[in-house]
Amino acid sequence: MSIEVQFSDQPPAGAVVLFDQSKGRYPLSSENKKIFSQSLASQRALRKAELYDLEKSEVFAFTDRRPGQLFIVHLGAGPLDFRSLGAKLGKKLLRLERETCALALPSKENHPLYKGFEGFLEGLLLGLYRYQEFKSPSEKPKKELRQLTLVGAKTKALQSALQRARILAESTCLARDLGNRPGNHFTPSDFKKACEQVAQETGMGFEALDEKAMKQEKMGCLLGVSQGSDEPAWLNILSYRCGDKKAPTLLWVGKGLTFDSGGISLKPAVKMEEMKFDMLGGGAVLGAMRAVALLKPEVNIIGIIPASENLPGPRANKPGDVLTACNGTTVEVINTDAEGRLILADALAYGVKRFQPEAVIDLATLTGACVVALGHYHTGLLSNDQALTRKLQAAADQSGDWVWELPTHEIYEKQIKGEVADLKNIGGPDGGTITAGLFLKHFIEKTPWAHLDIAGTGWNAERIDYYPPKGATGTGVRLLAELAMAWK
Ligand code: BES
Ligand code: MN
Ligand code: ZN
Repeated sequence: MSIEVQFSDQPPAGAVVLFDQSKGRYPLSSENKKIFSQSLASQRALRKAELYDLEKSEVFAFTDRRPGQLFIVHLGAGPLDFRSLGAKLGKKLLRLERETCALALPSKENHPLYKGFEGFLEGLLLGLYRYQEFKSPSEKPKKELRQLTLVGAKTKALQSALQRARILAESTCLARDLGNRPGNHFTPSDFKKACEQVAQETGMGFEALDEKAMKQEKMGCLLGVSQGSDEPAWLNILSYRCGDKKAPTLLWVGKGLTFDSGGISLKPAVKMEEMKFDMLGGGAVLGAMRAVALLKPEVNIIGIIPASENLPGPRANKPGDVLTACNGTTVEVINTDAEGRLILADALAYGVKRFQPEAVIDLATLTGACVVALGHYHTGLLSNDQALTRKLQAAADQSGDWVWELPTHEIYEKQIKGEVADLKNIGGPDGGTITAGLFLKHFIEKTPWAHLDIAGTGWNAERIDYYPPKGATGTGVRLLAELAMAWK
């Protein structure tokens, strides 16, 4: 995202957005009337505006054949979802191919806009996202928004709202970009490079275990999954330190399967291309680590991303094989397509033992069953700790990355009890998201833990305004960042 944002006293030529409290579209506040007459329009044009009324007249726009364009955002009836409102405007600007846009900031400090200004900007930037890395110049839209001007007083509060909105939106869009990138352009080694680059840009700590180091750590499950591919696996470790040695440490672990073919238990061809998105848990962790490194909450955070492919190469795991995780737990691979829990098992066990976190949260596109259960709009949440669950639910409400809790009752354990090993990697067709979560629970000792299954919310969640119409949503980035900011 290369949008330049600036403050100014005067709206530049181009699209201008007014925020108005009036109930109808008429009349505008005296302040807005003034801007209105200064910018482009006549009363005739204002009346014409009604022709361009958008959904529920929350945001609407009109032109009068001049180069300018005016948008009026009505903030009359509450409560308002400012993030969605901003995103609708962003998407509208994309469609209209505007290159510049000015927001006319109301001078009244208690104007309702300021109840949700940060969310509005965040939504606007999220709404402007589009993925076109692999489009030839002739295939790309000619124009895109490159300049956003905030017209009004440059107060401390507005500046910090803008800064936070930018960090959160850009970190979300980083996760989207990595997710949308095809598997041949985003291998486990590319994932490592991306982690390295973000760490360097933000001053975070970074290290990575290669396969040799994984062997030393006895990470048999992660190595087992990677075996079917020529691409070597990496275990990426990012660390943000807040400076206070006594501050607690959180551990975030994200599934970084850069392509999941299913392995020997090969997936059907239909929609297999979507399995390039199987690294979105890892993408969310990287995006959220970027966000916290810039927002600097008062808590230490470790982000671990096991990155691997799952392919049916000559050395691939076979159904029936037994793998041993780094904590000594043995696992029977009944289905090589249940690989996410295998790579997470080693990453979780390693992270919990080494970093002794106060809480651990993992994110993964783990089960198709979660898409069946919750669809595309709620991430599945499983946890062994009520306080952590409540914190995540609060962060979900705040960030707009919604979650819904599922049970972790031990009655489901029987389904994943192994025949010849301790565990088996699938628990049958019933309650697939729950048994996958319970599998992970064997690798976190007694640490307060939450598992977020983003299989449904990770991509194609187009009915949420601040998610794109297609492709990766970046869900989890703002959720985790919000959790970190509100910790304690
Ligand atoms: N990455 C998939 C889960 C997935 C499938 C996410 C479809 C989004 C859409 C995961 O590795 C997987 O293949 N899970 C299997 C588990 C099964 C073999 C127990 C699944 O859900 O089918
Ligand atoms: Mn799979
Ligand atoms: Zn997978």
